[in-house]
Amino acid sequence: GSNPQYEFIQVTEPRPGVGQITLNRPKALNALSTPLITELNTALLTFQSTPSIRAILLTGSQKAFAAGADIKEMAPLTFSSAYLNSFIESWSNLTTTLKKPLIAAVSGHALGGGCELALMADMIYCTKTANFGQPEIKLGTIPGAGGSQRLTRAVGKAKAMELILTGKSFSGEEAEQWGVAARAFGSYEELMEESLKTAETIAGYSKVAVQAAKEVVNKSQELGLRDGVEFERRVFHALFGSEDQKEGMGAFGEKRKAQWKDQ
Ligand code: CAA
Repeated sequence: GSNPQYEFIQVTEPRPGVGQITLNRPKALNALSTPLITELNTALLTFQSTPSIRAILLTGSQKAFAAGADIKEMAPLTFSSAYLNSFIESWSNLTTTLKKPLIAAVSGHALGGGCELALMADMIYCTKTANFGQPEIKLGTIPGAGGSQRLTRAVGKAKAMELILTGKSFSGEEAEQWGVAARAFGSYEELMEESLKTAETIAGYSKVAVQAAKEVVNKSQELGLRDGVEFERRVFHALFGSEDQKEGMGAFGEKRKAQWKDQ
């Protein structure tokens, strides 16, 4: 069931090992106000420290994943208040504190900070009709939650420049073609079912291997190729020290299903 401690999100465990966070501020199309982000961070930290949770799904409604940072909250901000409070920095907790894999299931609007939030996930699934974009230029500002960096890494400079300078949106179908989304689905129902299935699949693997896999792929966004390949090899070597490597390869040899120990 949903958790009454939260006002702007719902937290559920829809499948074994899967934690789901549903952004739930429908009157503002899930605009990402500071109180909403505070709740999101609390829920993520709770899932991170709950041993039974092995994969996390972040979603919104059919109509909106999130329509951006809260424009009404931002409108009166000054440089000094934004700077001194490091406005938006806490959104990055998603990428810095979360070691468990996070899938964003995106339907409807994923604009501005909503697009950026999705880009912080480890993987995006979306509907073909999802509406992604960085429209900040239309508001006299620029992306502020990593959009200029993560979108550019995802689609390359040419497309990122066009999208960020014009504020034009792109569809879920394009997101899949351009490699922003891992997959785009024909209906909302299919999106949610396939997102849950993928989360459940990941939740069925060794926690140690899953955390290592996420870590090495994310390092590819930070390191040059030589350092990245070396980092991967070190972590690969380290996994020979895990019980689950022995169990996984042993189970293969014995033609049986592996029983992960998460050690
Ligand atoms: N912040 C605050 N409120 C928002 C919002 C936002 N980002 N997006 C939508 N809302 C509110 C609307 O104000 C409206 O509230 P009222 O009923 O009180 O007027 C309600 O949500 C419904 O919105 P619309 O009536 O506009 O719905 P629509 O279906 O006609 O249009 C939309 C949908 C195209 C997404 C439109 O709402 C829109 O353009 N929203 C703003 C998108 C945007 O510019 N996002 C970027 C924000 S800046 C940012 O995110 C900075 C950053 O990089 C971190």
